Parts: sequence; structure tokens; C-alpha cells
Amino acid sequence: MLTKVFGSAVFGVEATTITVEVNVDIGVGYHLVGLPDNAIKESNYRIAAALKNNGYKIPGKKITLNLAPADLRKEGSAYDLTLAMGILTASDQIRAEHLEQFIIMGELSLDGSLQPIKGALPIAIKAKEEGFKGFILPNDNAKEAAIVDGLEVYGVDNIAEVIAYFDKNEPLERTVVDIQEEFYKNLDFPEFDFSDVKGQESIKRCMEIAAAGGHNIILIGPPGAGKTMLAKRLPSILPPMTMSEALETTKIHSVVGKIKNMGLMSQRPFRSPHHTISDVALVGGGAYPQPGEISLSHNGVLFLDELPEFKRGVLEVMRQPLEDREVTISRARFTVTYPSSFMLVASMNPSPGGYFNDPDAPVTSSPAEMQRYLSKISGPLLDRIDIHIEVTPVPFEKLSEDRKGEGSVEIRKRVTSAREIQSRRFEGLENVHYNAQMNTKQIREFCQLDKASKTMLKNAMERLNLSARAYDRILKVARTIADLERSEAVHGNHIGEAIQYRSLDREGWLG
Ligand SMILES: Nc1ncnc2c1ncn2[C@@H]1O[C@H](COP(=O)(O)OP(=O)(O)OP(=O)(O)O)[C@@H](O)[C@H]1O
Ligand SMILES: [Mg+2]
Repeated sequence: MLTKVFGSAVFGVEATTITVEVNVDIGVGYHLVGLPDNAIKESNYRIAAALKNNGYKIPGKKITLNLAPADLRKEGSAYDLTLAMGILTASDQIRAEHLEQFIIMGELSLDGSLQPIKGALPIAIKAKEEGFKGFILPNDNAKEAAIVDGLEVYGVDNIAEVIAYFDKNEPLERTVVDIQEEFYKNLDFPEFDFSDVKGQESIKRCMEIAAAGGHNIILIGPPGAGKTMLAKRLPSILPPMTMSEALETTKIHSVVGKIKNMGLMSQRPFRSPHHTISDVALVGGGAYPQPGEISLSHNGVLFLDELPEFKRGVLEVMRQPLEDREVTISRARFTVTYPSSFMLVASMNPSPGGYFNDPDAPVTSSPAEMQRYLSKISGPLLDRIDIHIEVTPVPFEKLSEDRKGEGSVEIRKRVTSAREIQSRRFEGLENVHYNAQMNTKQIREFCQLDKASKTMLKNAMERLNLSARAYDRILKVARTIADLERSEAVHGNHIGEAIQYRSLDREGWLG
């Protein structure tokens, strides 16, 4: 008998429905066709054990399983449950009249229990689009699938439940998620809050500016100055995610199977990969392409702690996605694109020993050592960082004070209104939503200076020996400072403050 059962394959952040045809006939043999990878080819061992341990079997007949469309490569172990249900039905071991109304997926353990799958959210979105009634999948992934409205989602722990549902009409418990509730639940309670930071008012101000204009930022300072602590708090002052941003971000995290027992991610992501990371893990890729850290940071913050420790090649591959806000990975048979719009926050010690020009420093580095250390970050990557700021440690007395600093919710209000001004300014322009994204032409248009400010900037550039590349960065940041003040024009004081945020040019550290 011939049976049809449905699964799904994920490419990039989109899913494609896979039809599994199962035919059981007289004879012997087990043929799995339609470009399955090794993990799928091995599924028969898992399926055989799982069925046996639940009182069923792979019949000793000629079994043909065809995964269609045949030209699309299918990968991973998530088809175990799909294939098992097809075999049971096609060999008349169970009755399953409504099998075709569902997408059924899950990896089987030998006892029949189910392991989580990747990409449940994009699969659910596609299932809804194509008019499926429901989606049966492992419990761990049920919530992320259930945020799709109008699709019945059933999270299950064991194949026995699925068999009982189809064969004996035993009910499955439907997973229901209130997407609005899920979205608003954590919105105002970020994990880390700026009120935990003692002192550091000027750095907090600087991070507020970075958040307001979407500027990439680098924090420079000795060990223990609080760089990591400050960076972790940046997502809490970015404007709250919109529902569509939350969906985009959740989708990417779903594709890597990183959403356990959660519905919608409504907090902006904060990712801080270790400096030993490979370029594939950072930007995405691999034989079976997966999104990298830059995509997992989509709509949030990517924090590269100890920037000069990263391999230069790894930093280089990040340049294009930083510019395009998406990354495209090409393989012989297909191309996938992952979104990667994130704010880059980097930190560095000013020297390999951790200190710069500090007579009391416990370690010192020779000029040659310093040059080697800093050479990795000079040039193109640094060109994409608008704000450089030095972080000096807060003195002990300040640390031990009880007084709390201003909290993230307050700061975020100012950031959000500055962003609103920018949205209105760039309305109708493609690819520009906030100041950091302006190109040279737009900078000329939107950051016009009066004569006095122009002279001031010119003098400062000469006095501090600032490079030409610093010029545009200063104008952009000054624009953001003016926006935070709701000032239509960019004035001298805005320029003056922006100039302070070019430590790496000013100190001549990078030559
Ligand atoms: N301004 C501050 N307010 C409150 N706690 C602080 C402050 N600065 C530092 N700390 C404390 O010091 C610890 C070390 O700070 P953090 O790890 O952020 O330093 P760092 O600059 O990242 O150092 P490293 O270069 O070694 O990574 C923090 O976990 C925090 O407890
Ligand atoms: Mg640190």
C-alpha cells in the first residue's frame, strides 16, 4: 500500500514542504531515495528499534521511501518520525486517516522518545501557508511553532502518543501560545540593567549615543574596568523590538535549534563569541549551512571582547555582512541568505599586557609588541566603528557606594525618541533607518554645519591630526547627539562631543 506523509526542509530561514511517499510491497529490501544525507540514511536503525520497543516493527517486505522533491537535498535526523509514521501506515499496522493533514517531524531515540528538531518556527510558518491543519513535533519545540496563528501544534514526547492519536483517536494536548502575551512578557525587564553600573556616567552617555544612532562602538580599557559589564547592558537601552523584529530573530534562533521551551524571543539578542571562534561559526556556513553568530545577533548586539585577539581573517569576513546587513552563503546546488543586522560592540585592552602609558601598570609592553597587537584591528574593520571610548576603572569608594545609577528603562526612552526622529528623517530612503547607516552623500545632506562649527571641526582635525575617515564618523555621531537633544541643526557643541569619541585616531595608537 502507498502512503503519503509530510515533513519539511529548512534552507536559510525558509522551509520547503517535503512529501514522503512510502510504498510497502511483496519482496524484501529497504530503499530510501530522494537525496537523503547520511543522518537520514541511518534512520532505519533508529526507526526499527523505536518501533520494536513500542510493539511494532519494520515489516520484512519491500519498502520504498521517496523524499520529494527529489532534487532537493534533505538532511538531519528530524525525518525519523515522518518515515516511521509512513511505514506504520503503509504496512497497515495502524490506521491513520488524517495523516496527510499534518506535518510530522522529530528525531527518534531507540525507545521511541523524541529529540528536538531545528527550524520548528519556519516549518510552522510554511505549514500554515500551505494549508496544513497541524504540526506534530517534539515537545521541546512546540512553543516556538505555536506562535504561528491558525495552525494546530501538538508537542509530543514519544512516538507512542502519535500512534495512539491516529490509530485509536486518543487526544493529543494542543500547545497554545498567546503571542501578544509572549511578546510583552519580558519587554520591560531586560536581564541586565544600567542601574547596576556605579559611576561611569560618561561611558553610559556614550553608549546611549551609540544606541540612539545605531553606531558601532569600541571600548578601550584595562582589565576589570567594566567593559564586559557595560557591553552586556547595551541591548537593554535599544528601542524595544517590534513584533516583526522579534519574529525574524526567533526564526534564526529556531533554525539552529537554540530555542528550548520558549515561544517568541522579545528581548534583543546579545552574543559574545570567544576570540578563538572560526570564520564559519562567526558568519555562518558549513557543508550544511547554518547561521553564524552575526545572524544570531540579528536585531541585537554582537560583542567581540578582546578584539585584537580574534584572528585577522575572521574579522575580515565580517566586513561585508556588516555593510550589507545580511550574509549570503553559496553552495554548488543552492544559495542561502541569513539576515545579520546587528550593532557591533568591541572591547580591547590598549596593549597585549592590558595597559597603556600607565606608570603603575603591573605589566608593560614594548612598542613593537603593541604595534603587532593593534595592527590586527587597524583599517577596514575600524572604518566601520564610529565611536571609540576609553574606559577607566571606577575607584573603590565609588564601587562601594549604595547609590544606584540611572536605569535602562529611562535611558531607553531617550534613545527611542531619538530613533523616531531618525525614522522620520529617512522616511522613503532605502536601507537607511538610523544615522549610522548614512552614506557620504546623505551625511552631506543631513549633517550640514554652520560656518563656525565647520571652522571648529577643521581646526580640531588639524590639531588632533585626525584622519579623513574620522571626518564622516564625527559628523554622523554629532547628528545623533543633536537628535538626542531634539535639535534640528548640528551645532558646535555636538561636534565637540563627537570629536571626543575618536580615541584611536587621537592617541595615534594606530599610526
Ligand atoms: N562601574 C562599575 N560598577 C559596578 N561594578 C563594576 C564596575 N566596574 C567594574 N565592576 C565589577 O568588576 C567586574 C569586572 O568587570 P568587567 O568584567 O566588566 O571588566 P572588563 O573591563 O571586561 O575586564 P577584562 O578586560 O578583564 O575583560 C564586574 O563583574 C563588576 O562586578
Ligand atoms: Mg571583559
